Parts: sequence; C-alpha cells; structure tokens
Amino acid sequence: MSKTPSKPDPNANPVFELFKKCKRFKHFKLYAGVLGFVFASISVICCFFYLDYRAVVIRIPFQAQSERFLSKGDAGEDQRVDFLGEKGERCDLFEGDWMWDENYPLYQSKDCRFIDEGFRCSENGRPDLLYTKWRWQPKGCNLPRFDAKLMLEKLRNKRLVFAGDSIGRNQWESLLCMLSSAVPNKDSMYEVNGNPITKHNGFLVFKIKDYNCTVEYYRSPFLVLLSRPPAGAPQELRTALKLDQMDWNSVKWRDADVLVLNTGHWWNYDKTIRKGFYFMEGSIVKMDMKVEHAYRRSIETVIRWVNTQLNSSKTQVFFPTYSPVHFRKGDERSGTKCHLETLPGQGYSLVPSDIWEQFKIANAVLLSASSNEIKFEVLNVTSMSARRKDGHSSLYNYPGPHIGLKPIHHQDCSHWCLPGVPDAWNELLYALFIKHSLRYKF
Ligand SMILES: *[C@@H]1O[C@H](CO)[C@@H](O)[C@H](O)[C@H]1NC(C)=O
Ligand SMILES: *[C@@H]1O[C@H](CO)[C@@H](O)[C@H](O)[C@H]1NC(C)=O
Ligand SMILES: *[C@@H]1O[C@H](CO)[C@@H](O)[C@H](O)[C@H]1NC(C)=O
Repeated sequence: MSKTPSKPDPNANPVFELFKKCKRFKHFKLYAGVLGFVFASISVICCFFYLDYRAVVIRIPFQAQSERFLSKGDAGEDQRVDFLGEKGERCDLFEGDWMWDENYPLYQSKDCRFIDEGFRCSENGRPDLLYTKWRWQPKGCNLPRFDAKLMLEKLRNKRLVFAGDSIGRNQWESLLCMLSSAVPNKDSMYEVNGNPITKHNGFLVFKIKDYNCTVEYYRSPFLVLLSRPPAGAPQELRTALKLDQMDWNSVKWRDADVLVLNTGHWWNYDKTIRKGFYFMEGSIVKMDMKVEHAYRRSIETVIRWVNTQLNSSKTQVFFPTYSPVHFRKGDERSGTKCHLETLPGQGYSLVPSDIWEQFKIANAVLLSASSNEIKFEVLNVTSMSARRKDGHSSLYNYPGPHIGLKPIHHQDCSHWCLPGVPDAWNELLYALFIKHSLRYKF
C-alpha cells in the first residue's frame, strides 16, 4: 500500500495523505480489502452496463438479423482472396451477404445531378438512411474498392452503353453518380444534346470531357423490335413485338465498348397483351403465344445478336438478371406495400413467386448460352437484390418533395432508391470490368 513508485513526492498527494491517516486505524487492511472488493464489483457491473449499452446502440439497425450480418464479416475477411488477384479467378461474386458498413453510401443524392426525382428517396422525405449503409460482400473473395478515377481512365475514348427498361436506367444513373465523384469540374460532364435527366423517352448520352468517354442510356424495355401491325392483322393487335429482331436502336449500341443489356419487367400480361401488344416471329403473328414464351424467345434473340453481331474483342457485354420486386399483399385498395421495410430480409421475403418464374425463364436461357462460348457476362443480381426489400423507392418516388408522397396503393416496390442497391450492382460491374481490362491490358 505504501509503495507508490509513480509518485516521487507522496506528501504532495492528498490521497496519499489520506492513506497515511488511514494507516493509524487498526483494521485498515480489512477496510482496504472490503473497499477494494466493493470498488472492483462496482467497476465490473458498470463495465457490463457500458458494453451492453454499446451493443444495443450498434444493434438498433439490425434488430433480429444482427448475428447474421455482424459476425460473418469479421471472421472471414482475412482469409478471403482478392477478386482481382490470381486466386480470385473462380470466385462467385453473386453469392454473399449484405454487410453493414459505415463508409457507405458512396455518394449523396443531393451531390449528384444525374438522378431522376423518383429515385431521390431521402430528398423526397424517406425518414431512414439505413438502406444506404449496406455493402455487398461476396462469400469467397473481396471486391476491389470502387475507384471512379481508375474506371474513367480505363474508359478513356470509350463508350459505355446501357440499353433496357427503367431498371437499367436506375443502374445507369447510379453509375453516373459513382463516376462523377472523380469529375470535379461540373461543366465537363454533360448530356451531349443538352437534354435534362428527367426526359424519359429515347436516349441520353453523357459525355465526360476530360476522358473523352460517354456513358449512355437507351430506353428499350423489350430489347427486341416494336413495330406497326402488319396489314390485315386482327384489330386488337395495336403493336407487334417482333421477337426475332433487335430494336432499331441496337445499331447504336453495337459498337459500344461496354454494353449493359437488361429486360424483364415489361414481359407480363398487363404491359403487353392487355395493351394490344402481340408477338410476331418472321411474318407470322402469334396471337396465342404466352408472354413467358415470348420472353424466352426475346432473350434468345438478344444472345444470338451478341454472339453473332458484336465484336467480342471490342465489346464487353453484361446481362443483369431480373431485378426483383417486393410486396406484402394488401387488400384491393391498399395494393402492394414495401414502404415500411427498413431492413434487408433474411432470405427472400416479400418476393412474389411470379418474379422467380420470370427469373427462371431468363436464367435457363442464359445458362444454356453460357455453356457454349461465353461472349457476355451475367450480372446475377436477382438473389442478392431479393434480400433487399428495404431498398425500394416505395412512397418516395414522387417527383419532388413539394408534390407529396405517393398514395400508399401506388407505391413503387420495383425501382430502387439512390444511393442504394444499384450501386452494389455497379460495384460488381466495376470488378468485372477491371478484371477484363487487366486480362486484355487496356
Ligand atoms: C474520342 O472517343 C471516340 C470514341 O468514343 C473516338 O472515336 C475519338 O477519336 C476520340 N477523340 C479523341 C480526341 O481521342
Ligand atoms: C474487333 O475489335 C478489335 C479491337 O477493337 C479490332 O482490332 C478488330 O479489327 C475488330 N474486328 C472486326 C471484324 O471488326
Ligand atoms: C444466378 O444465381 C442463382 C442463385 O445463386 C443461380 O441459381 C443461377 O443459376 C445463377 N444464374 C446464372 C445465369 O449464372
């Protein structure tokens, strides 16, 4: 007790003075023991409370899923190989988990001019930001960190083209935001025809002047050709979908250096036959053809086009798989619901079964095509995104905060908030693009 090596002048220390006085008591040692014990106990109890409190604070966003999301990441991190390294070659990027990561999102929507109002969830009043904080972690390897500057360097004098439906547009806008972080001068990134991002039809071409590259979007929900009905066709046929020919605009996509093709959400009864869109093969109108069958035929056409019309040493082609929708079925008037979802799902909750049917159709075609000579890369986003019921624009997809939220029964449970899930798709696209560039040394 009297040993106080760290205090050269014990008399100057009031505590030591007190101890000296204490020494006069007979049973000092006993007192000290009891005091020490009490002090230690209190410390331990306090410690428990403190740690527990911290655990609670960290777990709030995870609730029940905490174990799953927290524990895996820390354990496996060190043993994982880098995807870009030699050992990463065989890694399946699409099998993995969503990990909570404080370093996310990669950008803020208010700093990005390239997002449709409908995807600006937080600016449109979405109260939580949890959905922006998840990073995709493949099980077998680590992804390279997204480096906008490196990607732009590799895209110098090149064209990156998205063609497809509004889900493709969702992904395209995400990539514009991700890339724009490396373009400090606002005026050096612009739409070549001066069109605003909100213009929905046709196409938009953004040029990044310093790199002489363009990042383009062509609206083509079916990818195959829409045309006027042939002479003498039945009256209910208002538009013909020619399943064996590509969209006219495809001549503009062919020479792209990177081409991202997506289709899916329009291949259903409501968006085709109900509207008077019927299917044609050759010159034959197939009034009885089912939408699922037509969908399969269209993907076959797209793959045939990729395999025969594109120069595979010039164009790297990506085919994102079906982007899942999520909803809790309500009654007739309340419709679909995803607006109360703030956390990723465990498993594939709230994904309706017909989405999986659509996925299976496309997947079967893609799998059989890629067993031959592979001239495209599948971005297999369906299952990873199926776990993100929290990521949709739901009520917050209305154009601008002043107009107000969507009515609950009109909410959007198919498009995604930005920043959000499509950023993760683009991180995968980035990884595959960089890998390709290393292989072909550009
Ligand atoms: C810019 O890129 C295009 C291809 O997108 C190319 O044809 C053109 O030569 C490039 N311009 C310069 C100055 O390098
Ligand atoms: C295919 O692209 C490569 C690389 O750009 C080029 O060198 C080659 O001439 C092209 N082949 C054809 C048939 O256009
Ligand atoms: C995509 O991933 C799912 C689930 O892991 C798998 O069943 C499917 O075959 C994959 N599709 C392709 C085209 O690789």
